[in-house]
Amino acid sequence: MHFILEDRRGCKARVAGREVTIFSSNDYLGLSAHPEVIAAASEAARSFGVGTGGAPGTTGTTAVHEKLKNQIARFESRDRAVLFPSGYQANQAIHHALDSEQTVFFVDRRHHPSAMDGVRLARKSRIVRFDHAHLEELEKGIGDNKDHTCVVSLPSVFTVDGDIAPLDRLISLKKKTGFILILDEAHATGCLGKNGRGIEEHFNLKGAAEFLMGTLSKALGSQGGFLAYDELNLQYLTSFFRPYEYSTSLSAVSAAAALKAIELLDNGPGLMELLRRAKAAIIEKCKKRGIDIIHGESMVMLLPCSDSERLQANLFEDGFLTITVQANLGGQMQGCLRITPMALHSAEDIEAFARALENYKELIC
Ligand SMILES: Cc1ncc(COP(=O)(O)O)c(C=O)c1O
Repeated sequence: MHFILEDRRGCKARVAGREVTIFSSNDYLGLSAHPEVIAAASEAARSFGVGTGGAPGTTGTTAVHEKLKNQIARFESRDRAVLFPSGYQANQAIHHALDSEQTVFFVDRRHHPSAMDGVRLARKSRIVRFDHAHLEELEKGIGDNKDHTCVVSLPSVFTVDGDIAPLDRLISLKKKTGFILILDEAHATGCLGKNGRGIEEHFNLKGAAEFLMGTLSKALGSQGGFLAYDELNLQYLTSFFRPYEYSTSLSAVSAAAALKAIELLDNGPGLMELLRRAKAAIIEKCKKRGIDIIHGESMVMLLPCSDSERLQANLFEDGFLTITVQANLGGQMQGCLRITPMALHSAEDIEAFARALENYKELIC
């Protein structure tokens, strides 16, 4: 089902005249609706207008963009950051910029389409897709390409099933074989690690990746993407980032919103705590009703269904927005609801959602 939102306030929306609670948003921390984020965005709209009117090299760089770049570099503990209009473009940009006859990309088969499209643009390089999190296969592939520059690319949190990349094992392999690592933090920023700083904080492995790609569009509640890296790693780039140079930069409105969102996230683990509590409550309330939600350490959860489309339609009638996905569970593709908590979900929202699910147990595996 494709829902058209008539308005939205955090985890509440109106769709086809019906008031609904959202259990399918990537706005995990509810920052898109935070009053301070909205105030910062409104102030930027008044000062700069709603569009930048050009790529960064023309009129697309404002004082807000400069501040945001510095803020992201600091947040990610890297020397520098570059902004993009979307995370999709940031992913395209980094893969394309590492393209050379010497390069072999190793990409996890379940990586996001933005990275898959990125390696497709790297026409001089070889591309090897390895089975999901199969590090033995990866090690063999790298061993077979010792005389090349090996680049390993995978998400910190896999979008569909919420698996977390085995960064500890990857780093052991990196030490043994040597490769350049690109981590996609799209569903890790603001969701993983004590303070929401992502997978490196989660594993206590700061500086593990040469390139961190991220988005401003999920837990940061805004729009846009970024790459963060150290000066030292500039040596690996064979060209600068084309989507940065040739696309109109993200608006100062989005940049100001993201800047405020990072500031709020930096205020302490309070927002993360609310998100963790919402996740735990969803799992617990469902479990009490005999409904087992598949969950790990990320904020992405799955509910395997015999008829996910019907369950989604029924839940909509009851006032809940969900999304359906096809997930690979133990080698079999399975229709599921992909359920995501939000820091804004109240105990009543979660109780009502679990109660609604209980009515449709025959549609749940
Ligand atoms: C893992 C991953 N990478 C990249 C992106 C793209 O980010 P954006 O939505 O900012 O273009 C997404 C978005 O769904 C994603 O899930």
